[in-house]
Formats: sequence, C-alpha cells, structure tokens
Amino acid sequence: MTTADDYDAWYRTPRGAWIGGVEFATLTRALGANPGERVLDVGCGTGYFTRRLATECALDVVGLDPDRAWLDFARAHAAGGERYCAGRAEALPFPDASFDRTVSVTALCFVADPRRAVEEMLRVTRTRVVLGLLHRRSLLHLQKGRGGGVGAYRGAHWHTRGEVRELFAGLPISGLTSSTAVLLGGGGHASRVAERAASWLPLGAFFVAAADVRAVR
Ligand SMILES: C[S@@+](CC[C@H](N)C(=O)[O-])C[C@H]1O[C@@H](n2cnc3c(N)ncnc32)[C@H](O)[C@@H]1O
Repeated sequence: MTTADDYDAWYRTPRGAWIGGVEFATLTRALGANPGERVLDVGCGTGYFTRRLATECALDVVGLDPDRAWLDFARAHAAGGERYCAGRAEALPFPDASFDRTVSVTALCFVADPRRAVEEMLRVTRTRVVLGLLHRRSLLHLQKGRGGGVGAYRGAHWHTRGEVRELFAGLPISGLTSSTAVLLGGGGHASRVAERAASWLPLGAFFVAAADVRAVR
C-alpha cells in the first residue's frame, strides 16, 4: 500500500516532476479556466494537482477523495486556499451546477462505475469537465499496465479512445475533444525531445478528454 508521503514524493523525483509538469500543462490547457473560478478536483489524492491549480492558476479549488489519510496529507500541504472534502465520484456531495469547472486526474481509472462518475461530474458543473485518464494505446501501457499493472498502476483501467467516447455517449455535453501527452514515460532527455517533436502522435500515456456541459436545467 502506497502511503500519501511516498505517493506525493514521487512528484519530486526527476521523472515524477517531468510527468507531473507535462500533465499539468495538458490539463490546464484543456480546462481553460479563468482566475477566481470555482473548480472541483475529483479523486484529488494527495492534492498535487489541486494545489497547483490553486497556486498557479489562482482558482478556487475543492479537492474530493475517499481516502482520509491522503486528504489529511493534502490539507496539511494546502498552499493556495484550496479546500478538501471526503466523498466518492459516483455520489458527489454537492448541489447541481455548484462548480464552474471539474477536473479529475487518473482517478476514474480506479472507479468501479466511471459512467456514473461522469454523470455526477456533469451534474455539479456549469461549463466544462476535463478527465485525465491512462491511455491503453501507449508505450507506458506496454511497460506498466499489462497483466493488472505494476506499482501505482496496479488495478488501474487503461482507456481506449472508443471507451472514452462511450463514457460520454448520450450525456448532456457538446464538443468532446481529446489529446494525449507523455509519449515516452522515462522522463529523461529522450522523453523531452519526443514530447516536443512528436506531440501530434496520439499515443501518449496521459489521455485528456474535455467536454462542455450542455445545460438541461
Ligand atoms: C492515482 S491516484 C490520483 C490522485 C491525484 N489525482 C493525482 O493525479 O495525483 C487515484 C485517486 O483516486 C481516488 N479514488 C479511488 N476511488 C475513487 C472514487 N470512487 N471516487 C473518487 N476518488 C477515488 C483514490 O483515493 C486516489 O486518491
């Protein structure tokens, strides 16, 4: 069992810092949030992305996670006024349309009913939902995802593009877009070169799906 300290410390290793940075840049581009907007981070874990969204994008962020020990870590490391609450993606404890935008980073890969979770995210969001997922058509899946996965990837579901489309099918959204990042997961020189030179290749391990919420209210 990975502790919150160990998990969050990974983001301070050279590989973790590079991957975290590439993922954060991809997410914030897709999220398109304006300073001061209210954002929900579903499955926030130790709060790595939550606190970056609060401190670097000046967003009013709430992180939600079922793991109380990881939430304690996140609260103890809060740096930009972000707040945390316990809960599950499938039954979000918030009224309809209570956030401007919602983001969820490598959390739906661990949720038993991701479709229900997406419905809930759309319910509580006014404008845009962005999911960061693990991509099955990637080199990292070949290295870390097969046979149930290794390390922090154990038990994760790696989505295909078609599965992501299915997740949103028939729901009140418009303009579903996707992009991938983290082509080579090593984090060294080759990864950086590949990320710059071949970012158009849709084979990155980090799959970002973004959709605008269509009001049905
Ligand atoms: C790989 S961690 C990602 C944490 C953080 N978003 C990040 O990217 O560093 C997956 C997170 O999903 C959370 N999670 C698992 N099941 C969940 C559920 N049903 N609803 C919300 N979060 C869940 C876990 O507790 C864990 O914090």
